[in-house]
Amino acid sequence: MNFKETLAEKTVHAEDVLTKYLPEEKGYQKKVIESMNYSVLAGGKRLRPILMEESFRLFGGNSAIVEPFMAALEMIHNYSLVHDDLPAMDNDEYRRGRKTTWNVYGEGMAVLAGDALLNKAFETAAEAFSMIGEAADIAARYAAVAKALQILANKAGIYGMIGGQTVDVELTGKAVPREKLDFIYRLKTGALLEASMMIGAVLAGATVEEIKEVETMASEVGLAFQIQDDILDVTSTQEELGKPVLSDEKNEKTTYVTLEGLEKAKRDVKEISDRAAGRLAGLPGKNEFLYNIIEMLVNRRN
Ligand code: IPE
Ligand code: IPE
Ligand code: MG
Ligand code: MG
Ligand code: MG
Repeated sequence: MNFKETLAEKTVHAEDVLTKYLPEEKGYQKKVIESMNYSVLAGGKRLRPILMEESFRLFGGNSAIVEPFMAALEMIHNYSLVHDDLPAMDNDEYRRGRKTTWNVYGEGMAVLAGDALLNKAFETAAEAFSMIGEAADIAARYAAVAKALQILANKAGIYGMIGGQTVDVELTGKAVPREKLDFIYRLKTGALLEASMMIGAVLAGATVEEIKEVETMASEVGLAFQIQDDILDVTSTQEELGKPVLSDEKNEKTTYVTLEGLEKAKRDVKEISDRAAGRLAGLPGKNEFLYNIIEMLVNRRN
């Protein structure tokens, strides 16, 4: 199988895992559940759960314990997008080739759907405790799941994604110095990628030093990923991207492209992802697929 076929297969797997944990659309609260599922099942690259599982495998993990965390992180990612698209934030009407959640279900329901996805994420991740079983190293396994939960909470919160989105919102329409832009990117986008690869490593029993290195590598992947997102905002089309182009300009956002120019932005994406790939090569264990994903991020078109 070539990289494209393997990626397609792993995307389907991530989607299956996610679907297994989605709530049933019933009860008086059916509307919010519909809007949660609408936003989650709209497609998407499923990059975060894929990276999590590959990081788990890199460190020798081979059980299903990673699955609730894969679903949980993708739920958090989706909640962040549902809120990011709201009129009060980026005010975008399309995502993944269809209308954004607020555009279909209304703003109130989209706020609640995002909140509900965040809660559902922790409920889902906590299911990993009941999958530990009777292994000899049971205490270490409980500790790993607890540590993974802690990472998930931290990287999604004020020291992670929300922290980055906060500064992004606060500085909309204002000049942003480069170091603050780096802060925004490391948090709003980098943090969830760090969570995905760190949780995979933690659940597979990686050492503290290895987890630290994975965090740095994933942070670089996140930075390159967000710069590429900015590049695509000015170079792509809505058809190819599935979301509006020139959204950043509409919102008067300072981006890596407005600050450094398109050519330097492109060079830096390559340089930063090469650095991440180098870090991956230095870790024990080999995972060529992971290497290929990092490389793909530079050339991605959506
Ligand atoms: C979009 O993330 C938001 C950013 C952090 C740039 P993705 O590009 O991973 O979105 P989906 O999940 O594939 O739609
Ligand atoms: C990433 O930033 C947002 C999140 C962390 C949710 P953007 O606002 O650039 O993401 P897109 O372009 O809308 O996907
Ligand atoms: Mg935004
Ligand atoms: Mg946005
Ligand atoms: Mg963007």
